[in-house]
Amino acid sequence: MFSKFQSLPSYFGGKRKLVKYIFKPIKKTEGVFIDAFLGGGSVSLYAKAKGYKVISNDIALRSLIIGKAIIANNSVKLETEDLARLFIETKHDGFIKKNYCPKVFTSKIADFLDNAVAAARQVENETKRYLLLHLIIKFILSCRQFGKFTHTRDTLDLEARKFEWPLRSKSHAPKNLRMIQNPMLTLEKLKDEVNHGIFDNHQDNEIHQKDVFDFLKTVQGDVVYFDPPYPGSSAYEVEYGILDNLLAGKKLDNKPSPFSNKDADEFLERLFASAVHIPQWVISLGQNKEDIGVKPEKLLAMVQKHRKAEVQILDHKWSVSNAGGRGQSDNIEYLIATL
Ligand SMILES: C[S@@+](CC[C@H](N)C(=O)[O-])C[C@H]1O[C@@H](n2cnc3c(N)ncnc32)[C@H](O)[C@@H]1O
Repeated sequence: MFSKFQSLPSYFGGKRKLVKYIFKPIKKTEGVFIDAFLGGGSVSLYAKAKGYKVISNDIALRSLIIGKAIIANNSVKLETEDLARLFIETKHDGFIKKNYCPKVFTSKIADFLDNAVAAARQVENETKRYLLLHLIIKFILSCRQFGKFTHTRDTLDLEARKFEWPLRSKSHAPKNLRMIQNPMLTLEKLKDEVNHGIFDNHQDNEIHQKDVFDFLKTVQGDVVYFDPPYPGSSAYEVEYGILDNLLAGKKLDNKPSPFSNKDADEFLERLFASAVHIPQWVISLGQNKEDIGVKPEKLLAMVQKHRKAEVQILDHKWSVSNAGGRGQSDNIEYLIATL
C-alpha cells in the first residue's frame, strides 16, 4: 500500500485499499481533482501524489484538520519541540475529563488531552496548529480499539488498574497500553508517521469545510470524486460524535447527515444535478447488506440520466478498524465512473 497513507488517521469508510480502482477510469492525468467528501483524506493524498491540484471538501471539522495538515500543507513538518507545546500548562475547562473519563479515556489521557487540545488551539502558525490537532486526532484514534468509541470495558478496567483483560491479546494490548503510558512515547512515533506524508506536489491545494451542495456551487475542476456516507450505514456524526465534540470543546447536536438516511435517493439525485459543470465523475458507494442502501444498478440509472457511465463491483473487505469487528460477508462495494 502507498506508504504515505500512514500519515492519516484510520478512518471509517476510508478508501486506501481502493485508490487504484478509483484513479483507473480517470481520463485526465493532470489538472484539478475534486474530492467532495474528504473524510480521512486517503483519496486526496493519492491525487496529490499523482500531481493533480487537489480541491477537497468535507462538512466535518475533523476532516478539515486532516486536509489542512496533510493535503494543503506542502512543506511544514512537526518537530519534537512542537510536541512539547502540548504539555505546556494551558487554561482549559476539563471538558474531556468531565465527559469522557473513565469510559473513553483513562484520567491520565483525559488530563493530557484537555491540556493538549487547548494548547494546540493557541498555536499562532496556522499550519502548525492544524498539524498538532491532526496529531491529536491520530493519537485519540490510536488509543481506541478499532478506532471507535465503543468498547468501554477495556478503559474502565485500565482506570481501575485491572490490567489482565485490557492486555489480553496482541491485538488489544498496544492500543490499551497507550492509555497508561506517557503520551510522549506515542506522539513521537505518530509525529514520524505524519511527517512522512508531507511533500510538495507544486500545486496550491485547497481544503473547504462546507455542505457539499454549497461547495459544488462554486468549485471548478476536471474530475470530481464522490464518496458520500453510505445510505443506511452508521452515520459519521454518530461514529465520530465524541471526537467532534472534543475538537469543538462542547457537545454538538451530532445530527446524522441526510446521506446516511436509509432513503438518501433524493440527496444523491441532487448531488449529480449539482455537478453537471464538472466533466468527469467517479462515485463510490456500497451496501452493508443486500436489502439496505442503494443497489449498483439504481445508482447507475441516476448517473445515466446525466451522462454515459459504467459500474464496477469491487471485491472489497473492510479492514477491522473500518468494520469494527462486524461480519463482512454481505458487504457490496462498487464504483461508478462516467465515460
Ligand atoms: C465515506 S466518508 C469519505 C471517506 C474518504 N473518501 C476516505 O477515503 O477517507 C464520507 C464523508 O462525508 C462527510 N459528509 C457527510 N455529509 C456531508 C455533507 N452534507 N457535505 C459534505 N460532507 C459530508 C462525512 O463527514 C465523511 O467524512
